[in-house]
Amino acid sequence: MSSPAEALATLNRIRQCPDGSLLSPEETAVRLGTPVEVVRAAIEKGRWGWQIQLGLLEYSHRHGIATHESFAIHNIELTNYCNLQCSYCPHHRMARPKGHMSAEILAKCLEHYVRRPGLPRLVIHHFGEPLLHPELEARLTQIAQAGVDIQMSSNGLLLQKKLPILLAIPCRIFITLSVHQWADQGPEAYFKALTDWQAQVAGSNLTITQAFNVSQTQFHFHAWTGGRETEWDYASHCDFLRNNMGSVLWNGDMASCCLDCDGESVFANMTDVTAANASTRPWRGCRGCDIPGHRGYRE
Ligand SMILES: C[S@@+](CC[C@H](N)C(=O)[O-])C[C@H]1O[C@@H](n2cnc3c(N)ncnc32)[C@H](O)[C@@H]1O
Ligand code: SF4
Ligand code: SF4
Repeated sequence: MSSPAEALATLNRIRQCPDGSLLSPEETAVRLGTPVEVVRAAIEKGRWGWQIQLGLLEYSHRHGIATHESFAIHNIELTNYCNLQCSYCPHHRMARPKGHMSAEILAKCLEHYVRRPGLPRLVIHHFGEPLLHPELEARLTQIAQAGVDIQMSSNGLLLQKKLPILLAIPCRIFITLSVHQWADQGPEAYFKALTDWQAQVAGSNLTITQAFNVSQTQFHFHAWTGGRETEWDYASHCDFLRNNMGSVLWNGDMASCCLDCDGESVFANMTDVTAANASTRPWRGCRGCDIPGHRGYRE
């Protein structure tokens, strides 16, 4: 099982020099291709961003350290229902059926997930609003009871209403607040709301942070897989494809990446007996992908 302590041990093994000393956070950041603030947060505060998870997996894979060839869950889709229609998100034209993840599918994900080191938090959003799950408390408790912390992105519309449930879940919950409600008002209004939320949950099991696509001065939007078509070698450069890591949809379907709204890249289902040997693969969206591996924005 991947506890934060085990994940930190993997990180420290990667930092180890031949003379027994450890690489500095700056040197580790270069080694993992990860921002130094993220590395510092991991080393000093035990806070694990997805960038460091990807960096660890990638480095482990390349150097044969604590690596796993079987499918790694980058994120699951607790539900693909949503209570917004953001203009910049493909959710409103999603063609696949809507549903909520069952206890059985989540159990499969957890059973598989906890075997992987370096992934101490389960990311529970894909296309949809995670707080809309009708059995939210039961599903989040199920994750907590597996000894795993929770990470989600939320549009925040239901945050106040669901707060009592979130505060009672026996694990740490990290929420990135996305920009929707403030998209027309700009970063100032967004950061005001974020600061109010952070003050409200201070000292609890909840940590609310800013979305990866917002800076002090502007919001950034990518084109999902609708960017300019390229001939680039995504199979070599995309973290999802290189590390056999992807998304599990609400019905257990395993997809190649978190940019695939319609499930075009689905290659297996968590309930298949052969799922453990299944592998992510390039799909139509890769040709127009503007964030291979979803490494986020660098300003
Ligand atoms: C698809 S949403 C799903 C979770 C939840 N409904 C939410 O909005 O936070 C996941 C993240 O994608 C972001 N997102 C949606 N469209 C985007 C775009 N065109 N560019 C960058 N981020 C986008 C959202 O802001 C959110 O942070
Ligand atoms: S970005 Fe989130 S809230 Fe907005 S439509 Fe997409 S899934 Fe829904
Ligand atoms: S669409 Fe982009 S992130 Fe997704 S598998 Fe293809 S190259 Fe990777």
